[in-house]
Amino acid sequence: MFKILSTASALPKCRKTNDDLSTFLDTSDEWISQRTGIRERAVCTDETLTDLLTQAADQALERAGITAQELDLILCATIRGDYITPSQACVIQKEIGASCPAMDISAACTGFIYALDVAAGYFARKKVKKVLVLAGDCMTRMMDWSDRSTCVLFGDGAGAVVLGEGENLMAIQLTANGNVDVLNIPHVGGDSPFDKLPKNQSYLSMNGKEVYKFAVSSMYRDVQIVCDQAGVKVEDVDWIVPHQANLRIIEAAAHKLKVSGEKCLTGIENLGNTSAASIPIVLDRANTEGKFKAGDLLVLTAFGAGLTTGACVLRW
Ligand code: COA
Repeated sequence: MFKILSTASALPKCRKTNDDLSTFLDTSDEWISQRTGIRERAVCTDETLTDLLTQAADQALERAGITAQELDLILCATIRGDYITPSQACVIQKEIGASCPAMDISAACTGFIYALDVAAGYFARKKVKKVLVLAGDCMTRMMDWSDRSTCVLFGDGAGAVVLGEGENLMAIQLTANGNVDVLNIPHVGGDSPFDKLPKNQSYLSMNGKEVYKFAVSSMYRDVQIVCDQAGVKVEDVDWIVPHQANLRIIEAAAHKLKVSGEKCLTGIENLGNTSAASIPIVLDRANTEGKFKAGDLLVLTAFGAGLTTGACVLRW
């Protein structure tokens, strides 16, 4: 089906520590870092999501050694692009000078793995030879900054991979269990004179404890399922690349799976939760640090609003 030809990522330049947040919120570095592992996050100031994704896309193309014109498909996992329409993928297609089909994937923090599965289908049908998979969100622009229980958890960023033909995807599986109550971000109302619906603020709201339980149990389940499908043992996996929402979630899932901490790649400490971008950002960091050897077994695992989950096994 496919193999990953290159990885890339981009973060906004402004960084905010937990102490910075405690200057205007009733919170503390101790509360945030003990419960989540987060110490700082990058936040958008004058950057758009398009800026971050374009930077990641250009870097991914350069590292793959291909031009934008060689792309056959662009997929972008995002909760909210810079426009409701056109899709964020179409915006990036124009920015990088590509001319292939482009579309967004909406699966919240699981979006990157959903996009990999969509890409796998295109490769299986032999419709594509090169695919750009993007993931990015400006989560800090979707927060109620007076709600300390949510705004401290998120950060902004973008990640990208270029996929080419190959046999590195060994198993992939997705789930969805529709549930608006646990985690949602409503639309902003329009201006229709006929509209009788209440006008929403477009802020994230979440039942943190419910998400926590869902996250640990679904990661534990999904990693075992994809390892079974790929015919490998969990203990033979070299690297787990989990969605970065909370270090405690990653540690609890790893503990249940009996996977050592060194095998779990993390970046939450200085990223916060960057939604679908978190896996490709952490993947890119590890890749550029030279952590992966050819033949290494990687498991990617994510959960998010929907509620959605996804996991896959890749041979590096
Ligand atoms: N600073 C200080 N206090 C805070 C706070 C903050 N930023 N946010 C909440 N609190 C307070 C609450 O008001 C509450 O106080 P009370 O007990 O007096 O009412 C208390 O802390 C709640 O603490 P606790 O019960 O320990 O929270 P928790 O253990 O459930 O941890 C989360 C909260 C959000 C860190 C945790 O539930 C979580 O990570 N959930 C998953 C969220 C997630 O991953 N979302 C994204 C999915 S993609």
